Amino acid sequence: MSTALVTGASAGIGRALAHALADRGYRLVLVSRDAGRLEALAAALPSSGLPHQVLAADLTTMDGCRRVERRLQDDAHPVELLVNNAGIAPPQPFPRNPVETEETVLDLNVRAVLRLTHAALPGMLARHSGGVLNVASVAALGPGWLASTYPPSKSWLLAFTESVGRSRQVRRAGVRMTAVLPGYTRTEFHSRARISTGNFPAWMWLSPSRVAETALRDLERGRTVSIPGTRYRLLCWALKHLPRPAVLPWCWDPSDATGSDDRALADERHSPTER
Ligand SMILES: NC(=O)c1ccc[n+]([C@@H]2O[C@H](COP(=O)([O-])OP(=O)(O)OC[C@H]3O[C@@H](n4cnc5c(N)ncnc54)[C@H](OP(=O)(O)O)[C@@H]3O)[C@@H](O)[C@H]2O)c1
Repeated sequence: MSTALVTGASAGIGRALAHALADRGYRLVLVSRDAGRLEALAAALPSSGLPHQVLAADLTTMDGCRRVERRLQDDAHPVELLVNNAGIAPPQPFPRNPVETEETVLDLNVRAVLRLTHAALPGMLARHSGGVLNVASVAALGPGWLASTYPPSKSWLLAFTESVGRSRQVRRAGVRMTAVLPGYTRTEFHSRARISTGNFPAWMWLSPSRVAETALRDLERGRTVSIPGTRYRLLCWALKHLPRPAVLPWCWDPSDATGSDDRALADERHSPTER
C-alpha cells in the first residue's frame, strides 16, 4: 500500500485530497495544527490496511517542519506522495500587517514547502518513484490581487515546481511534480484571511472535491501544471499571455483606493505616544 502525506488536511482542499487519496487506496499521514480534527478525519476515511496516521505540526515553525521532515525521511515507511497543501493569506493589505504576519505567510507557503520537498525527494529519487503535489493558486500568475504577499508566495511555488519538476534528475527517476492552480474554492480560506466573499458570483466557485480530483488526475498524467475548471483555464491563459497593462485594470486591490487607509497609517505612525 502506498503512503501519501498531506499538509493542511484538516479542512478544505487538503481534506478533499485526503478523501480522494484514501478512495484510491493510499494510507495517509495527515498534517495540520489541529490534532482533534485530524483524528476525526483519520477515523472517517476509508482504510484498506494500516490505520491512517496523524501528525500535528505548526509548519510556520522550524520545530513543526522538522517533525514532518523526519517522517518524510523514514525510509522504513516511505512516503510515495507528498502533498504540500497548507497555505494562508494575510488578513490585511501589505503595509497594514505587522511584518511578523507577512513573514508567517512566507514561512508556511514557501519555507515549509521547500523544506518538506527537500526532505522527501532524495528517497523518491533513490526508489525511482514518487510524486509531489503543490497547491498553488491562479494568483501565482499575478498581478490579479494587489497589495498582498500571497500571490508572490504562490508564484514562487509555481516556479519552484517547474524548476525542480522539469529537471532531468527528477524526470529520469520517474518522480512527478505538479503545481495545482485553483481559483476561488469553497473552504475556510477566505474567512481565515478575513476576505469578504459576498459579492463573488456563483460561477466563480469551485468545490474542493473538484479541485482534488483534477489535481490527482493531472499528477497521474504527468502534467506539471493543473488548472481545475474550464473558466479558470481560460483566465490563466489570459493572465499568461495578455500584456500587463491590459490586465492591471481588472486586478483586485484590497487596499483603500480613497486614501483613507493611507491617512489611518499616517495617524498610527504619528500617534501621541510615539511623538
Ligand atoms: N480556497 C481558495 O479559494 C483557494 C484558491 C487558490 C488556492 N488555495 C490554496 O489551497 C490551499 C488549501 O487552502 P484551503 O482553501 O483548503 O484553506 P482552508 O480551508 O483554510 O485550509 C487550510 C489548511 O491549512 C492548515 N494550516 C493552516 N495554517 C497551518 C500551519 N501553520 N501549519 C500547518 N497547517 C496549517 C489548516 O489546518 P489547521 O488550522 O488545523 O492548522 C487547514 O487544514 C492553500 O495553499 C491555499 O493557498 C485556496
